[in-house]
Formats: sequence, C-alpha cells, structure tokens
Amino acid sequence: MKKTTSAIIAIITLAAAIGAEAATAKKVRAQTPSAVPAAGAATAAGDAVRGKTLFTQRCGICHSTDPAEAMQGPSLGGLIGRKSGGESHFAGYSKALTAAAITWSPATLDGFLEAPTKVVPGTMMVIASAQPKDRADLIAYLATVK
Ligand code: HEC
Repeated sequence: MKKTTSAIIAIITLAAAIGAEAATAKKVRAQTPSAVPAAGAATAAGDAVRGKTLFTQRCGICHSTDPAEAMQGPSLGGLIGRKSGGESHFAGYSKALTAAAITWSPATLDGFLEAPTKVVPGTMMVIASAQPKDRADLIAYLATVK
C-alpha cells in the first residue's frame, strides 16, 4: 500500500516536471522565430530544443529514442541511469562498451560523447562531438526522452 502511494507520487512529480519542461520549450519556441533558438535562449544546463535538432541531424540515422527501436545503434530513450551496453532490444553491442559498465549520467555522457573511442577503446560508437555546447544541448535533450 505504502509502495503504491510513493510510486504514484513519483509519477505525479515526474509528470509535473515533464509538463514544466514542455511549457518552457514552448515558450522558447514562441520567442524565437527560427527552428534553432538563439544562444541566449539556452540554459546553463543545456538547451533541449537545440539538442533535439542536433540529435536529428547527427544521431538519428543510427539511434531512435523509442525504447523498443534498435537501429544501427541502440535506442537512446531512457539512457540516463542506464548501464553502457544495457539496452535490451539492441543485440549489436561491442564487448568493449558492455565491459566498460559505465552508468550514463550527464557527466559520463559528456566525456564519452567528446571522445567515445578514447573513453571506451574498441567501441563501435565513433561519432565524437567536439563542441561543449553541442554536448550539453544533446545531453539536455536525451534527459527528456524517457
Ligand atoms: C553511424 C552510426 C551512429 C551514429 C551517427 C551515432 N551513433 Fe551512437 N552508437 C552507435 C553504435 C553502433 C553504438 C553501440 C556501440 C558499441 O556497442 O560499442 C552506439 C552507442 C551509443 C551510446 C551508448 C549507448 C548505450 O546503450 O550504452 C551513446 C550514449 C551514443 N551512441 C550516443 C550517440 C549520440 C549522442 C550521437 C549523435 C551525436 C550518436 N551516438 C551517433 C552508432 C552511432
């Protein structure tokens, strides 16, 4: 009984957070005429709206955010908090990425995305994102896809 109650509270809290985020994203879009918001619209934590555009351009050819959809790479839905090599619908992981056993957080993702083959030698994920702002925005977006 107690467990159910706290689970419901957790869901409500999460829903409220997602709602607030969506409202912010809408505001940002309303204020900026172009598809890619100006730098001033970004928060220090990263701009999820710009991150989504970057994701579509640079990652979407190999990654879906639908948890069940494996492409050339694993789904990146629900990535934060997951172990590297841990998406159960994807069968193509390298031994290197699985063995690295990294828990994906904004910090570990930042390092990996900057130089994936240096952080995990032998990984098949070879797409590096050199710009800190691009990584922050990508990570902000990935944190919104559960
Ligand atoms: C050419 C295809 C390709 C592109 C483009 C690509 N990836 Fe990947 N990605 C992969 C593959 C394949 C893996 C699995 C690597 C392995 O098992 O070593 C992977 C793994 C990952 C992982 C680890 C996932 C997990 O479940 O542990 C992250 C995070 C990731 N990619 C992020 C990105 C981001 C962000 C971009 C865009 C900037 C991107 N990738 C672009 C192919 C790609």
